Amino acid sequence: MPYFITTAIDYANGAPHIGHAYEKVLGDVISRYQRLKGEDVYFLTGVDQHGQKVQQTAEKEGIHPATFSKKNTKKFLKLWEKLGLQYDGWAETTDERHKACVQKILTKLEAEGQLYKKAYKGFYSVRQEQFLTDKEKNEQGEFGSEWGEVVEIEEENWYFKLSEHTDWLRQTVENNDLEITPAFRKADVLNALDRTSGTDLCISRPKERLRWGIELPFDPDYVTYVWFDALINYISFAGYEKAEGSDLPDFDYWWPANAHIIGKDILVPPHAIYWPCMLHAMGFSEKQMPTLLVHGWWNIRGEKMSKSIGNVVDPDELADRFGVDALRYYLVRDIPMGKDSDFDVERLIMLFNTELANDLGNLLNRSLNMTKRFLDARLPETSYDDEESQKLRKSFTESVHAYQESMELYDVAKALAALNNHISFCNGYLERQRPWELAKDESQQDRLAAVMYHVVESCAHAAILLSPIVPSASAKIIQQLQAEELTSHLKLSDCQWGILPTGHQTGKPKPVFPRIEIEKNED
Ligand code: MSP
Repeated sequence: MPYFITTAIDYANGAPHIGHAYEKVLGDVISRYQRLKGEDVYFLTGVDQHGQKVQQTAEKEGIHPATFSKKNTKKFLKLWEKLGLQYDGWAETTDERHKACVQKILTKLEAEGQLYKKAYKGFYSVRQEQFLTDKEKNEQGEFGSEWGEVVEIEEENWYFKLSEHTDWLRQTVENNDLEITPAFRKADVLNALDRTSGTDLCISRPKERLRWGIELPFDPDYVTYVWFDALINYISFAGYEKAEGSDLPDFDYWWPANAHIIGKDILVPPHAIYWPCMLHAMGFSEKQMPTLLVHGWWNIRGEKMSKSIGNVVDPDELADRFGVDALRYYLVRDIPMGKDSDFDVERLIMLFNTELANDLGNLLNRSLNMTKRFLDARLPETSYDDEESQKLRKSFTESVHAYQESMELYDVAKALAALNNHISFCNGYLERQRPWELAKDESQQDRLAAVMYHVVESCAHAAILLSPIVPSASAKIIQQLQAEELTSHLKLSDCQWGILPTGHQTGKPKPVFPRIEIEKNED
């Protein structure tokens, strides 16, 4: 089955931070999980290169916005490569194919009477790039600091008849045709709809104010509003209205998107209001609406990360310091789906050291070492079984089930908890079975073989279930188990007891998760 997944496209007006990295790693984890299930996956991500923010920051640096956004785009590309993201499509909004698609859509909407031009005088937030109304004022009747500099301007602009679609949208949200995960976010959307009803969306910016955007095909004095441009990336790069002979994907095959992964700040109004209404105006039905997967934020000691506070965490540096596996693991392990979490390097180290280095790392190391020492690195035939081993197999079945259930709900943290429970059980099993004593007793050889089989087989399962989260560590485990051929085409549904055949020869153990040791004088 096709599985089309996208993330928000990041503003190319700076370097990627930990929040960007989380969202992209989450997208990669879900994509890899779906591939493991055997789905035909297309993972699209990219950068948002137009708009006032990019133009302003470029001006400050004294360079052209095109040069500036390209320079930043490279930082994102480099980091995604370092973090092992396996994406199929890369969306850059300055791409000619995207521009052509946006212009085609604008032309069609204008011809069909969905757009109109009018003069408007009002307050405008430079930071948020939007006009403000009284609804945006705080209790003191002022525009709060979140809006940055607010200026009063009068100008003619083009509007999209958003208000013609909001009744339809309310129905579509209420019927769950526009699916929003986690479900508690649906209330935010319905509330926002109450605030929006009756208003239209300004979709242009006069070139005197903003040059850095896609020109309106029917009015060359204007460029397209950055959100109207950026949202279209989800379909333009999926092949919507593509040119003859284009190498873009087959839109009819991939659409609608199974998951648009976005942060909670861009759910309303852009993704849950503008976007479905834009699609509806283009002729998409409620059955062709994407599913919105809304994640929470990584904060720093309860505070928002921001350049002005100076608390921005650099994922590139963390990956160099602790390794890609440790960073990927932490980013999806220590944040419940949909909720916020505090980014804490000490927890990154602690979780890596306990759950990966101690629990899984030791299980792997001990299992391979003892198989080598006691059984000549071979898993012999055995007919031995006991209650403890049955319990281990039950724990395995339950953990795979719980893992899968949570992954289906995009709750990676919960899926990992299920897997880690099983790993702990396996370590306890080794302690209780004491293979080092069985090895000394001739009459216990059958039991020894069964015990070693159970733990080595469990390492293979762990590697498979961890492959979406820490793909490179998973590959190393599989390599040490000498199970590459056995697992290369394996699907999640094949992840049942007995992957390793009798007589299987195991490899040499090498630490996959070396403990992170922090020098006293390091912070
Ligand atoms: N360019 C727009 C999105 C356009 S999508 C058609 C944008 N860019 S952004 O760079 O500001 O944010 C990109 C994504 O990163 C958003 O989904 C946002 O929620 C997410 N995050 C930004 N900071 C974050 C955290 N501190 N934590 C988690 N995710 C955060 O919005």
